[in-house]
Amino acid sequence: MHQFHDLTITAIQQEPNAVVWTLEIPEKLFDQFEYLPGQHLTFKYMHEGEELRRSYSICSSSLNPAEMKVLIKGVDGGRFSQAAQSVFNVGDTVSVMPPSGHFAISPEEEKTYVAFAAGSGITPVMGMVHAVLEQTESSQFVLFYGNSTSGDILLQQEISHLKDHYQERFSVHYFLSRQKVDVPFNHGRLDQGKVAYIKDHFLNQLTVDGYYVCGPGEMIDSVCRSLELLGVPQEQIHNERFLSDGQEISASEKIIKEDAGITVTVDGANHQFDIKAGESATLLESAEQAGVDLPYSCKAGVCATCRCKLIEGEVEMINNYSLEEWETKDGYILSCQSVARSSKIHISFDE
Ligand code: FES
Repeated sequence: MHQFHDLTITAIQQEPNAVVWTLEIPEKLFDQFEYLPGQHLTFKYMHEGEELRRSYSICSSSLNPAEMKVLIKGVDGGRFSQAAQSVFNVGDTVSVMPPSGHFAISPEEEKTYVAFAAGSGITPVMGMVHAVLEQTESSQFVLFYGNSTSGDILLQQEISHLKDHYQERFSVHYFLSRQKVDVPFNHGRLDQGKVAYIKDHFLNQLTVDGYYVCGPGEMIDSVCRSLELLGVPQEQIHNERFLSDGQEISASEKIIKEDAGITVTVDGANHQFDIKAGESATLLESAEQAGVDLPYSCKAGVCATCRCKLIEGEVEMINNYSLEEWETKDGYILSCQSVARSSKIHISFDE
């Protein structure tokens, strides 16, 4: 389930400072690559002898199981994202782990879904838009999408196409922060004030069933805080943030205080190893050192690829930028952020 598979890139589409890869999914992998709209794929790439892992959200329709699209935004100094722009060609294969991630939607009939996206935060949201419009007959999607300038808008053609095709059920509002626009409402960032205005003027007649927020951390904090202050129940607000600097855990935060016996269940098998007091390692790092192969990508608490369930024992989760409250209440943890805090620990990736 957490294995990597070689998939072929069958098309590359240029977007502003980004590319969209179309990946071919062979029939024998249809089951494994089934996904919920909003989930992401993790890529493995060897760069100068170092293994890199990166996650990118699926932005395509899920109606065709034989292909999947991901958008890869170019990042200055980003070793994988730069290679994606210039090294990979149509016909090349890439190493990909089946979809994962908790920022996802299961569209139902007669619902209203609202998304706030900024920049490449549109990527998982596009997967959701496709699903709501194509898999239901009566649900609607309202999208608020912010960028710096009109030249930065990603997937604009696809958004327009969907808007034309589903006029009754899909509406889009663009916001530009560094370009003059005719209507003052469409100028500026998606911040607390803007969200309050939107809620008052655009959403006041609607019963919204779920809010989905994706973009840089500051934008997410601002939009989510605003929604909460406006009385939206927390369980209706879902978010996924980008990886940014400063999310690394220090060695001192990871120090183990007592010897611990660890059991890890993954893909139906149990693995056991010990860690010693004084060592400095997360559960994910300890497992790696013991030769146990576990799923992960960002190692920064953002992507939730390393999510597992704590079956027994105690851990300290240093950062959590991805699990929702119900997940932590149910015992889910991020293994890349969790440090052993009892002598016996059992975690499972199969729950
Ligand atoms: S690997 Fe991304 S949250 Fe742990």
